This record gives sequence, structure tokens and C-alpha cells, in this order.
Amino acid sequence: MADVMPSKQAPPAPPVHVAIIMDGNGRWARARGLPRTAGHKQGAEAVRRAVRGAAELGISYLTLFGFSSENWKRSATEIEDLMGLLRLYLRKEIAELHAEGVRVRIIGDRRRLARDIVALIEHAEDTTRGNTSLNLTIALSYGARAEIVEAARRLAAAVSEGRFAAAEIDETRFAGELTTVGIPDPDLLIRTSGEKRISNFLLWQCAYAELMFVDQLWPDFGKRDLEDAIREYGRRERRYGAAQG
Ligand code: IPE
Ligand code: IPE
Ligand code: MG
Repeated sequence: MADVMPSKQAPPAPPVHVAIIMDGNGRWARARGLPRTAGHKQGAEAVRRAVRGAAELGISYLTLFGFSSENWKRSATEIEDLMGLLRLYLRKEIAELHAEGVRVRIIGDRRRLARDIVALIEHAEDTTRGNTSLNLTIALSYGARAEIVEAARRLAAAVSEGRFAAAEIDETRFAGELTTVGIPDPDLLIRTSGEKRISNFLLWQCAYAELMFVDQLWPDFGKRDLEDAIREYGRRERRYGAAQG
């Protein structure tokens, strides 16, 4: 008697891939009269919480914007502090992430990163390559426009070498040249700190992502905030251009 018994609505599918623009570390510190670096330090704690929270909430892919290609414009001291925290994170966290079955990938322009950091990144990726519980991607020295230009350049070179014709370039082939190859597009993009912009993050990949701008500053962001975002995501209707259902 399916229509007498109130049928239990299946909960909406959780997002497979959540991407986060982790913003507001500086403001968090300023509000406390602390140096910006104190905000970044707390931000690293929030990264740990987000990774753990995402795994617990059954998210398969988590992509975090850690440092943009434009962030190189910041002062040498702030960049050094951020790189120091990155070193610490890569040295201290990889063993635990590996034990938890997390696969770590880093996207972005490695040529601008220090050699020891690149070595730590390669070690993290090699160690965790076979893991499947959570796919964690961290964008470092990353800019989406540069990524798209790089893809175009590689495709142009392939065409000029006669490997395929220009007319054979389609969206799949293009996406195959991006650094996110093999990673599904984000379903949900969250930005903290109240700013409502994308700041050159995953421009191609977020074509149909649900955008969520939350007021919390990144160092304050926790598992509960992630849960709230996922709940709100569940209320959205994704149409991909089709007529309203
Ligand atoms: C995000 O926090 C961290 C990075 C961009 C590296 P910000 O450092 O941008 O913090 P606000 O935006 O100045 O508060
Ligand atoms: C975006 O934050 C980059 C990261 C979170 C790593 P920004 O603070 O650099 O962005 P804008 O300058 O406010 O657009
Ligand atoms: Mg910022």
C-alpha cells in the first residue's frame, strides 16, 4: 500500500565533488589584532577539519584552493610564511592521510614552487596514488586561465605535429589537457569570508557547479558548516539548461 504509507523520500544525493575557496585568514587575524600569519596557521587547522569532515560526510572529491597564481603578488614575508606552513602540512599530514586512504593531488604551476616543496608534493602523490577513500586535490600556485592557456598550447602543438586535426578538438579532449584530468567537475563550490567571486579558480570545471558564498572566515569553518552547505546543496535544483522539472 505504497500510497497509504507515507513513503520515505530518498535524501538528495550528496555532492560527489566539493571545491572550496578558503578565504578570510587575514581578516580572521586582523579581527584579533594578530599578524596575518596567525590566520594562515588557523587556516591550516581548518584544512585538517575540512578533510576529515569531507571523508566522514561521504564526499569523494574535495578540492581546496590554497594559493593562487595571483597570490605571488603578496609580500615576501607572507609568501614565506605560507610556504612554511605548506611544508609543515606536507611533512606532517601525508602519513596520516595515507593511513586514512586519502589520495592527494596537487594542481598548479610547480615551476614557481621551491624545489623541496615540489619534492614533498611528488612524495605525497606517489605515496597516496593507490588510495580511494577521498580524493583530495590542493590547488597551489594555481590559476584557471593559465591552466586553460596551457591546455590550448598543448593542443595547438599536437595539431601542428599532425597528431590530430583542429576540428577533432572537442570538450572531452580539451578537458583531458587540464590538470584536473580524471577528476569529475565540482558539484558544489563554496567560498568563505563573504566575498562573492571565483578569483580564477577552476573556471572550466565549475561551468555547472552550484555556487555557495558563506560568511564564515576560513579559520572558523568546520564540519558543521560543511554539513550546512551540503544540506543547502540538496535543496537546489540542478537543471543544466533544461526546462524546469
Ligand atoms: C586566504 O585568506 C588564504 C590565501 C589566499 C592564501 P586571505 O589571506 O586571502 O585572507 P583575507 O582575504 O585577507 O582575509
Ligand atoms: C583566492 O583568495 C585564493 C585562495 C583562496 C587561495 P584571494 O584572497 O587571493 O582572492 P581575492 O584577491 O580576494 O579575489
Ligand atoms: Mg582573501
